[in-house]
Amino acid sequence: MNFRDSEEIAGLMMEKGWELTDSPEEADAAIFNTCSVRKHAEDRAISNVGALAPLKKKRPGLVIGVVGCMAKAHGRKIIDRVPIVDFIAGPANIYDIPAAVDAIMARRKDLVISTDKVSRPYIGNIAYHTSGISALVTIMEGCNNFCSYCIVPYVRGREVGRPADDIIDEIKALADNGYKEVTLLGQNVNSYADKSGVSLNDTSQSGTSPFTRLLGRINGIEGIERVRFLTSHPKDASEALFKAMRDLPKVCEHLHLPLQSGSDKILKSMNRGYTASEYLKKVELLRKYVADCALTTDIIVGYPGESDEDFRMTEKVMREAGFNSAFIFKYSPRPPAKASGFDDDVPKKVKEERNQALLRLRDKMSSALDREFIGGETEVLVEQICRKEKHKVSGRNRQNIKVVFEGGRALIGAIKKVKVSSVVGHTLAGTALLALLAAGLPLMPAAAETIDEYFVSGDYENTVREGVKLVQSYKEKDKLYYMIGTSLNKLGRYDLARKNFNILMDTAPKSRFAPLAQLGIADSYYLSSDYKNARACYEKYLSKYPKSEGGAVAYFRLAKCAQKEGNWQSARNYYQKVKSEYPMSFEAQTASDALRDEILFFTVQVGSFNKKANALRLCDELVKKGYEASIVKSSGDTEESYKVRVGRLGDRDSAEALAKKLRAEGLPTKVLP
Ligand code: 5AD
Ligand code: SF4
Repeated sequence: MNFRDSEEIAGLMMEKGWELTDSPEEADAAIFNTCSVRKHAEDRAISNVGALAPLKKKRPGLVIGVVGCMAKAHGRKIIDRVPIVDFIAGPANIYDIPAAVDAIMARRKDLVISTDKVSRPYIGNIAYHTSGISALVTIMEGCNNFCSYCIVPYVRGREVGRPADDIIDEIKALADNGYKEVTLLGQNVNSYADKSGVSLNDTSQSGTSPFTRLLGRINGIEGIERVRFLTSHPKDASEALFKAMRDLPKVCEHLHLPLQSGSDKILKSMNRGYTASEYLKKVELLRKYVADCALTTDIIVGYPGESDEDFRMTEKVMREAGFNSAFIFKYSPRPPAKASGFDDDVPKKVKEERNQALLRLRDKMSSALDREFIGGETEVLVEQICRKEKHKVSGRNRQNIKVVFEGGRALIGAIKKVKVSSVVGHTLAGTALLALLAAGLPLMPAAAETIDEYFVSGDYENTVREGVKLVQSYKEKDKLYYMIGTSLNKLGRYDLARKNFNILMDTAPKSRFAPLAQLGIADSYYLSSDYKNARACYEKYLSKYPKSEGGAVAYFRLAKCAQKEGNWQSARNYYQKVKSEYPMSFEAQTASDALRDEILFFTVQVGSFNKKANALRLCDELVKKGYEASIVKSSGDTEESYKVRVGRLGDRDSAEALAKKLRAEGLPTKVLP
């Protein structure tokens, strides 16, 4: 909620002509949007604001504001603690912020305190969005639940629903601007009501609720591919919601369902309105409807009166529910919330121990659940280039788990199927499925990254079509020629492929792509069945780049050339070379197979004998008739056998024709392999 509020404040200021900057040194105004939910958050905010004191001393004109929940909770007292603050504005006074900044800048006022409003007059939609793909959309403000520990109802006021049409308009505009995902925000979205106070949790319309009806409308917005929502209160998360999650394809399989505690005694004192077993029943029902739903939660440890036994109940429920992730908080009293009047009796040390124990349990559970994705496919909405590994992109799957895989800028905003191969921390790593990658690539005007994407995804036509347009501007021309040449080979345009490889060889003979181009030239001959030239080029490659990585391919292809030309001995020698010089290569395995005789050529077996003499007799007879016959000795499990085979042929059709001829002579035939 706070993040979206910050975006909205940025949007409001930008509308007035302000620009954003990352550096306080550059800023004319600094606005701190604060959270009061926990004491720790408040302390951090105060020290962050205080850190601007030297700058304010240097530049007294710098306007400093503290806004959000802390502003509402403490008002003027904030200025007593940090006197450099010029204005204060509570969450409901968010729309007063630009005017407050103006007033201070124009020196019309020395100080502005704007905390009078209890709830926002409306929820605006001019937020500035940090991401261009996924946007936060507020659907309601405030909360009516008054959980005993929580300050939210006091600082954000009562629930006020935003009109559904406004929400839909904002999301449509987001879709028009290329956004693919929206996350609907509210303290308790399941009690969303279209207008303030109307029909909370009304399920009168055939098992739906105002919230599920809203989900249904958003699901129909073209361009939006995914819908998420935060936060659900267990007492209000209903069967209607789970059904909607099952039936609405864009609604993602993730539910954030704060448990807070697993002890009924504590839950009662917290005023949560459910018991542990009711919570678990809800989870069971959710899984009945949405089997692959990820579940996350919030838990508070060290709430007043929490005994060891109560804590153990929380651990137990956590295990039973099976959380993909959880936020664990140490309780802190938040006046005027009701529990702030209770004795905060769990010692700090015990709170810390319980916090650590739950963090350990959470990590164990979430990594076990993450690992279940390994080997499977998961759908990822690509959001950005990885910060550290620039050749990779990251996004989240429908369960809201981060996924990283190899790819470029052209994929941002696309939805990809990724095969998961490992888990690093709480991130899944994998590979995009190539066919889908090619099919899903947007046909944008050629950009360097786009060509790379086309190429790695096997879209050779686009690599060539768009690549030739880039010849002038592409930075690594050698790489471009290599990609175009290779693509042309794949498309069967061997002469043109050769031309591109030759340009590369002529213009950048020292390039890292030159050896690959030499191989590409050889391949272009091989693929067009010109084995003589192919052989010459592979040999040239091997002498020019001895011991290079492509050696295995070159030897392998030389064997193939020899095989095609019927030169079996030479083929055998080349296969041996692959095996001995590149034992770890992919080709070595295939060479071993080829050397197991049959794969090298097609032949016709005309008999298998226990006695060598019988095999010899048949073999002689066939040789006399002009056939190329031979005997192969093989050792079975129990005894040896002698097989008579006829012919060494380059293709199966010729072998079949020979078999037909032999059958006409009354012989039993079996074509090998
Ligand atoms: N102390 C600790 N955690 C709290 N939360 C809310 N109030 C408090 C508090 N006084 C936690 C709850 C809530 C999350 C946003 O913050 O778990 O779900
Ligand atoms: Fe706070 Fe409870 Fe409302 Fe959540 S539901 S905001 S915990 S009062």
